[in-house]
Amino acid sequence: MTDASDGDSAHAVTPRIGVCYFPEHWPRERWETDVEEMVEAGIEVVRMAEFAWGCLEPSRGEFDFEWLDEVVGMFGEADVDVVLCTPTATPPKWLIDERPEILQAEPDGTTRAFGSRRHYCFNSPAYREETERIVRTMAERYADNEHVVGWQTDNEYGCHYTVRCYCDDCARAFRAWLEEEYGSIEALNEAWGTTFWSQQYDSFEAVDPPRHTAASHHPSRLLDYARFSSDSVVSYNSLQSSLLREANPEWFVTHNFMGNFPTLDAHDVGDDLDFAAWDSYPTGFVQDRRTGDPVPRELRAGDPDQLGLNHDLYRDPDNPRGFWVMEQQPGDINWPPYGTQPAEGAMRLWAHHAVAHGAEVVSFFRWRRCREGQEQYHAGLRKHDGTPDRGYDDATRVASELRTVANAARSSDGAVDADETANVGGRNTGLEPVRAPVALLHEYDDLWALSEQSHAPDFEYWTHFGAYYRALRARGVGVDVVHPTTDLDPYACVLAPTLHLVDGGLATHLGEYVRDGGHLLATIRTGLKDPRNKLHEALAPGPLADLFGVRVSQHESLPPALDCRVTYRGAEYDYRTFAEWLAVDSGGAEDADNADDGNGAPATVRGRFETGVGAGRPAIAERAVGKGSAAYCGVWPEADLADALVTDLLDRADLAYTERLPDGVRLAERDGLTWVTNFTSEPIEVAVHDADPQWLLGDSTVGAYDVAIVHAPATLVTIATDD
Ligand code: GAL
Ligand code: ZN
Repeated sequence: MTDASDGDSAHAVTPRIGVCYFPEHWPRERWETDVEEMVEAGIEVVRMAEFAWGCLEPSRGEFDFEWLDEVVGMFGEADVDVVLCTPTATPPKWLIDERPEILQAEPDGTTRAFGSRRHYCFNSPAYREETERIVRTMAERYADNEHVVGWQTDNEYGCHYTVRCYCDDCARAFRAWLEEEYGSIEALNEAWGTTFWSQQYDSFEAVDPPRHTAASHHPSRLLDYARFSSDSVVSYNSLQSSLLREANPEWFVTHNFMGNFPTLDAHDVGDDLDFAAWDSYPTGFVQDRRTGDPVPRELRAGDPDQLGLNHDLYRDPDNPRGFWVMEQQPGDINWPPYGTQPAEGAMRLWAHHAVAHGAEVVSFFRWRRCREGQEQYHAGLRKHDGTPDRGYDDATRVASELRTVANAARSSDGAVDADETANVGGRNTGLEPVRAPVALLHEYDDLWALSEQSHAPDFEYWTHFGAYYRALRARGVGVDVVHPTTDLDPYACVLAPTLHLVDGGLATHLGEYVRDGGHLLATIRTGLKDPRNKLHEALAPGPLADLFGVRVSQHESLPPALDCRVTYRGAEYDYRTFAEWLAVDSGGAEDADNADDGNGAPATVRGRFETGVGAGRPAIAERAVGKGSAAYCGVWPEADLADALVTDLLDRADLAYTERLPDGVRLAERDGLTWVTNFTSEPIEVAVHDADPQWLLGDSTVGAYDVAIVHAPATLVTIATDD
């Protein structure tokens, strides 16, 4: 736990509230009032100019920056930091008319036409030229403007399924990408395995994007197209960030990613950013990007684990800046099936929850409901007549609470004294970044390979991944979501859900982690394939089989009508969707080879199938290896089994955890403080096992959709339940 007297930590920041503002939608006479009302609310960051290309350059070469200069100046005077966006998500009509080749194409060749947004191709040489022109012009314009603190590149790369384009420019770029990747066409044919269905290529020129076909495409070609498409965005973003940095190296550069987003490798894009930001719309996400129907509380406030997973994905644990929520849902929204009103206080709850997971800024989208265009049915912090909407009061409240909490967290006794907060100098305030003891390994290549070849209608990467994330969060345990090749030394234990594509290097990396004392849990479909999307010759988990001491002898996918139960350490549990029958190595030659480093012991069967054709066979196994342990779970667990698996893993790693938290109630620890967030419609009672708990916000009764903050580690907190 952080020492409360440690008042001048290098990395502590005071989290701030921001807003996305579109001054171009409103008369100039209104701007001053808007700025005043933002300041009154405690808003300290504003994001602008996203989608503003049409206003900034009404026709080729005729720039109009005067309006933006003026409004940036107004925010500067008001001491509000300005984040500008490059306006490239919406190339204007005159540009598309001049250079129609900029537009994207569907797999069947249909053009994605003008009239919406994100209608440009990342590989269009014409669009790269135009991008360079507008970004350079804007960057130079504001390079010396002290009020502009940083940039967001573009907006939500890939939103509306636009990472993958199938136009002729993409075809050319794909061929060049393949040539770079494979060197010779023979190597490609070999790596993909093109003898299947006579798919041999005699040159790179002969390879097209996977356009419309009668039946499914070759999985290796699909996977490479997914990689190539993601890489195209990475290189497009890197063009933008280098132009911005060239103009002013002091600026930060970020991008606003999306929740549970499938087609863009955020780890790769992140390499060119100072930190990641993402856009959080909780009542929408439970409706449109999660399997299973949302329960009523989720339709009012979302799913804290779905949000937490994204916070933890975009939060780089090695980056003291954490992450930003660049767009936070402000009220009712237009794009999910149902535009429910969030619960009273939900907008405040979301902001606190994000900060607890490491956010530096939470910025609401948008300032005011817009009278025109596609998003008329999307709330803002203000109604379209300019009066406060529900989110405004929430934003105001959380802005002041965060200042108080950050100051109190660093004051000598941890006690809150609101009167003093204004006098605390910047150095003595703030919250440290989040550090988690457990890593979940996340890899987009696995997501792509698994989702391009259907396993079952309800086999969805994020849902399976989320089942383990949820189980850990339900025990109050902090999680870093990291790439598999990350240095794993800082983690007491590691979970690898569906680590599908594994080569020798990754197997060595994980093996070393375990032998040196790490504890690893891997799950279904791990190590089945090589990075080219071919099955390994050895049975799964392929290069990892020796580490776990098991082989997958059969698998099946399971519709809900089948009874799916396993016994695990003597108790019976439900599982779902997918199962693998394991065969445990008896300790043959390979084990003997490894006997020196303590790897000789065969794996112990911990779980067996109770039902189905595989009844009696091993389903879950665990093995002591070197100084650590490696466990393999061959079923997709329901919540109780996931809980049993993760608590056993935590026990092996000797990590403390809480009683199982009720659904919708979560604890998150940052800088020695624990946020108790209640995403349910009922109040909860919180007990803190500390002689004299210091509540920095609220107290031991946390109301519906409310939050409290206590100066204590999460492991000392319990929530009273009825049973
Ligand atoms: C985001 C997008 C915003 C706005 C918002 C509406 O995906 O970045 O521009 O469209 O959704 O919720
Ligand atoms: Zn294209």
